[in-house]
Amino acid sequence: MQDSMNSQTFEALRSFIYEQSGIFFEKSKEYLLSSRLKKRIRELNLNSFEEYIAYLKSTSSRGELPKLFDAITINETYFFRHINQINAFRDIIMPDVLKRKRTANIWSAASSTGEEPYTLIIALMEKYGQAIPAKILASDISQEALNKAKDGVYNEYSLKELSVDTKYKFFDTIKPGSYKIKDLIKNKCIFRNINLNNHTELNRIGKMDVIFCRNVLIYFNKESRQKVIDKMYDILNPGGYLVLGATESISRLNTKFKLCHFKKALAYQKEI
Ligand SMILES: C[S@@+](CC[C@H](N)C(=O)[O-])C[C@H]1O[C@@H](n2cnc3c(N)ncnc32)[C@H](O)[C@@H]1O
Repeated sequence: MQDSMNSQTFEALRSFIYEQSGIFFEKSKEYLLSSRLKKRIRELNLNSFEEYIAYLKSTSSRGELPKLFDAITINETYFFRHINQINAFRDIIMPDVLKRKRTANIWSAASSTGEEPYTLIIALMEKYGQAIPAKILASDISQEALNKAKDGVYNEYSLKELSVDTKYKFFDTIKPGSYKIKDLIKNKCIFRNINLNNHTELNRIGKMDVIFCRNVLIYFNKESRQKVIDKMYDILNPGGYLVLGATESISRLNTKFKLCHFKKALAYQKEI
């Protein structure tokens, strides 16, 4: 098995991945891509990147796509990531949405291993009690990440931003350093495998009031990012909000969203 791939093979792989997922590997990320795929290629007993491309493209191996997505995605996340965004969601965005309706539809659109949607539920429970006025959909392209989210077992790293009180209230300690999210949180979240680059899948999800789409569009290029932002605009109800990662911006894209400034946090709102 070769260590790296030639430029033609890299080009073929990156356009296949881009067409399927919207994820765009810059030339500088070639090493990252090859090291992530090598493990998968070995598991399949294949001998080269070229053989893997042929395998991916052969109709009989459609089942390989989810494995490819698992191999190439970066699932880094933790509870209460960027607390100022979570505070703005709980204290400003939700009360505003609830002026227009009794129950908010909330979507964590790249939920990874579940920390983000569970954080939203915990934040809402702190404000509204157990009967939160919201339905939560969480989705990701990586089935492996979704399976972990459904298991709901986390290590210290994932919980590093939580107070001892919150840990005790919302998690059961399975063994030292291993915590399971309580069913009262877990049961409030529906997990689905949704590819943000697949409009057929996006057309099925229905209307939303708040979308969290954090730290995923950084892996897309301008064109695939624009498509996702346009689709999210359609999916949001009038007055709905889009929250991106704390360091992300759509200022260079063409959109009708209005930028809202909160305390150390931003969100984009669709006109009412
Ligand atoms: C870095 S994690 C972000 C997790 C969480 N939103 C956060 O900010 O903590 C990025 C996630 O985006 C997912 N992802 C990448 N491409 C995607 C796509 N085309 N559709 C849906 N999810 C995707 C990855 O599987 C990964 O779990």
